[in-house]
Amino acid sequence: MEWALSSVNPLTISLTVGFVLLILNFLKGKKSGDRPPGPKGIPIFGSMFQLGDLPHQTMYHWSKTYGPLLWLNLGQVNTMIVQNASTAAELFKKHDVPFADRKVPDALTAYNFNAGSLGMNTFGGHWRVLRRLCSMEFLVNKRMNETTELRMRLMHDMIRWIEEDSKTSLAQGGTGAVQLSRFLFLMAFNLVGNLMLSRDLLDAKDPEGKEFFDCMNVILELAGTPNIADFFPALKLIDPLGMKRNMIRNMTRTMKISSKFVQERLDNRKAGKFQEKKDFLDVLLEYEGDGKDGPDRMTEHNVNIVIMEMFFAGSETTRFPLAHRVVHLTIATLVQAFDWDLGAGVKPEHIEMQERLGLTLRKKNPLKITRHNEPIRPRACLSPASPFIMSLLLVCLSLSWHGLPLHQQHRH
Ligand SMILES: *[C@@H]1O[C@H](CO)[C@@H](O)[C@H](O)[C@H]1NC(C)=O
Ligand SMILES: *[C@@H]1O[C@H](CO)[C@@H](O)[C@H](O)[C@H]1NC(C)=O
Ligand SMILES: *[C@@H]1O[C@H](CO)[C@@H](O)[C@H](O)[C@H]1NC(C)=O
Repeated sequence: MEWALSSVNPLTISLTVGFVLLILNFLKGKKSGDRPPGPKGIPIFGSMFQLGDLPHQTMYHWSKTYGPLLWLNLGQVNTMIVQNASTAAELFKKHDVPFADRKVPDALTAYNFNAGSLGMNTFGGHWRVLRRLCSMEFLVNKRMNETTELRMRLMHDMIRWIEEDSKTSLAQGGTGAVQLSRFLFLMAFNLVGNLMLSRDLLDAKDPEGKEFFDCMNVILELAGTPNIADFFPALKLIDPLGMKRNMIRNMTRTMKISSKFVQERLDNRKAGKFQEKKDFLDVLLEYEGDGKDGPDRMTEHNVNIVIMEMFFAGSETTRFPLAHRVVHLTIATLVQAFDWDLGAGVKPEHIEMQERLGLTLRKKNPLKITRHNEPIRPRACLSPASPFIMSLLLVCLSLSWHGLPLHQQHRH
C-alpha cells in the first residue's frame, strides 16, 4: 500500500516558498522599457525550461543578477517575480485590488471549481461571503475552543496509529521507523472532517474515506503540475496533457462522496433532524444573503466545492487559529508519548534536507524516526521535553506540515 500526497497547495504558495509569484497577463503593447529585467529565454517558450526542478532556487540565483524584481516570459504568459519583502508589502498595500485575483490553472476550472471556491475565486461578492463564513464560523478562536475534546481524541488516534505502524514494521522485520508526516496528515484530515461534517473521514475500515483521500491526492497533484495549456492558452481547448480531463474524472469521484454527505444532511434537516452543534456544513446550508453583496444562498454545487476545498486547504495549510492550536498540541503529544531516535548511528547533522517543489515545498525524502517505548497517553499536564527532541520535532513538523509527502514503505 502506498499513500502519496505530492501536493501542492495553491493557497500557500507565497507563504511556503517565501517569495511572491505573481502571474500577470499584462496588457499587450506595453513598452518593454517599463518592465523589470530578467533572463531572455528562448523564442516561443521563453524561460519555461530554464526554471528547472527547483524554480524557487533558480529565481533566487537570478535575483543576484537581475535584482529582486524579475520579469519572465513563460510561453505566452508574462510573469513578474517579487523577491523582496518590503517591495512585496508595498505592492500588496498600494495595488491590492489589481493583484487580488490569482491565475487559475486550467485544471482547476474543472466543474467550475474556481467559481465556487475560496482560494481560486475572483475578488468579489461571492469571495467576500465565503471568506466571512470561514473566518466567522470555521476558523475563529471561539469555535476552536469548542473542539478541545475532539483534538484530544484525534491525538489519541494518532498515537495509536503510530504505535500500530511501528509494530507492524517490526513484525515484518523492519526497523520500526515511522514517517510522522503521514500520521499528521491523517490527524489533520479528520480534524477538518469533524469541524465541517461532524465526522471522521479516514478510518482504515471505511473504503469511502480511502477513496476520497486517494482522489484528493490526485487533484492536489494535478493542480500543481505545470501544464503546457497554462502557458499557451490556445491549447486549453485541446488539453494536450489530458490534465483537465483527469481532473474532471477525479473530481467526479470526490464530488460524489462529498455530495452524499451534503445530501444526507439536507434530508435530515428536511425531516426535522438537526445537529446538536452546528458545523460548517450547516452554516453553509443556512446562509442567506442580504441582497446587496454576494449570492442569495449557496447552491448545492458550490457547497460541495467548498467542502472539497476545505479538505485540501484545511488539512494542509497553516490555517492560523486551527494550526495554532493543533501544531503545539501535536508536538507536545509526540514528545510526551514516545522516546524518539533517529536510528542507529544517525546524527542530527546527517539528516538529509533536500527539497522538492510542487506549489509547496516539501522534503524530497520524508524523515523517518524510531520510537522506543510504549506510548504514554496524552495528559492535561505535559512535562518539559528534551530540547534536542523538541527542536528535531519542530523541524520535522514544519517540514511536513506544509508538504506532507506521504510514502509508506512496506518492508518484507
Ligand atoms: C528590498 O528593497 C528595498 C527597496 O528597494 C531595499 O531597501 C531593501 O534593502 C531590500 N531588501 C532586501 C532584503 O533586499
Ligand atoms: C476557551 O476555553 C478556556 C478554558 O476552557 C476558557 O478559559 C477561555 O475563556 C475560552 N476562550 C474563549 C474565547 O471562549
Ligand atoms: C485520476 O487522474 C489520474 C491521472 O492523474 C488517472 O490516472 C486516474 O485514472 C484518474 N482517476 C479516475 C477515477 O478517473
